[in-house]
Amino acid sequence: MRDVDGKVLTHCGAGAGYRVLELELGELADEARPGQFVHLRVPGLEPSALRRPFSIYGAKDGVLRILYKTVGRGTAAMNRLAPGDTVRVLGPVGNGFPCECAGTPFLVAGGYGVAPLAFLAGRLPRKGVVFIGGRTAADILARDDFERLGWEIRIATQDGSLGESGLVTVPLDRELAAVTAVGGTAELYACGPDGMLRAVGERAIKHGFKGWLSLDKHMVCGVGACLACVQKLRRADGEEWLGRVCVDGPVFESREIVW
Ligand SMILES: Cc1cc2nc3c(=O)[nH]c(=O)nc-3n(C[C@H](O)[C@H](O)[C@H](O)COP(=O)(O)OP(=O)(O)OC[C@H]3O[C@@H](n4cnc5c(N)ncnc54)[C@H](O)[C@@H]3O)c2cc1C
Ligand code: FES
Repeated sequence: MRDVDGKVLTHCGAGAGYRVLELELGELADEARPGQFVHLRVPGLEPSALRRPFSIYGAKDGVLRILYKTVGRGTAAMNRLAPGDTVRVLGPVGNGFPCECAGTPFLVAGGYGVAPLAFLAGRLPRKGVVFIGGRTAADILARDDFERLGWEIRIATQDGSLGESGLVTVPLDRELAAVTAVGGTAELYACGPDGMLRAVGERAIKHGFKGWLSLDKHMVCGVGACLACVQKLRRADGEEWLGRVCVDGPVFESREIVW
């Protein structure tokens, strides 16, 4: 893990309330794996302000990208970053997704949770299906990334403004039934709100597939020291313990998580 200054290369809008920030980070970017995140010190906030965690949306040739939604003070301050500005970045943090998969990969994304899955899609050894869900059409992000990589795409919006109407589990259930009907196997990877993660995890367990869930917890230190981000987990022997999402995760297999 490194703690370095990154230079802003580009900073573009990606639809209502979302932006993509591209940073020159050298070795930190080259070491990054899908599912890991960076902890950013946001310029413009007081020096004592906490860093903010963001999944790695892409990393190549020393350049790292994040896709973020403006939700509060820190992300609003990030909006003002311009090419040439400097940002202090800690990372890559966390375990990331396993990149070998037993069956057809099914990626399930909610809102900005699509960011680490778009990175993962380019690193998995085989193509599969991505399920992208959101409240409305503006929350359906990164479609082009998956199209470029030749993935099948299923979209669901709660207000029916794009794709199927309803939750992302509607097309997911249909595709899981299709895979099991022919005796196939899938491996599930998900990032998004807790309700969606829990639903995906339950389906992975029901079908006997692996389900890798990236948890989104409020973080303080980001290095395993403060215990702000603990999650109750279950070991294979049934014993329960408190894992730190920042360093023991953020990715956990569905059977490990005690909701
Ligand atoms: C491992 C990890 C990866 C993440 N990846 C991304 C990403 O790729 N893109 C992205 O846009 N965001 C991501 N987040 C969430 C992001 O860190 C928060 O949105 C950000 O810290 C909010 O900062 P703020 O100062 O703008 O908001 P604040 O002013 O701190 O809070 C504004 C609102 O956002 C809520 N909020 C704050 N932190 C979180 C959080 N972690 N999860 C859910 N709600 C939160 C608060 O409860 C409040 O309602 C990730 C979080 C984690 C833990
Ligand atoms: S944020 Fe401090 S232990 Fe995870």
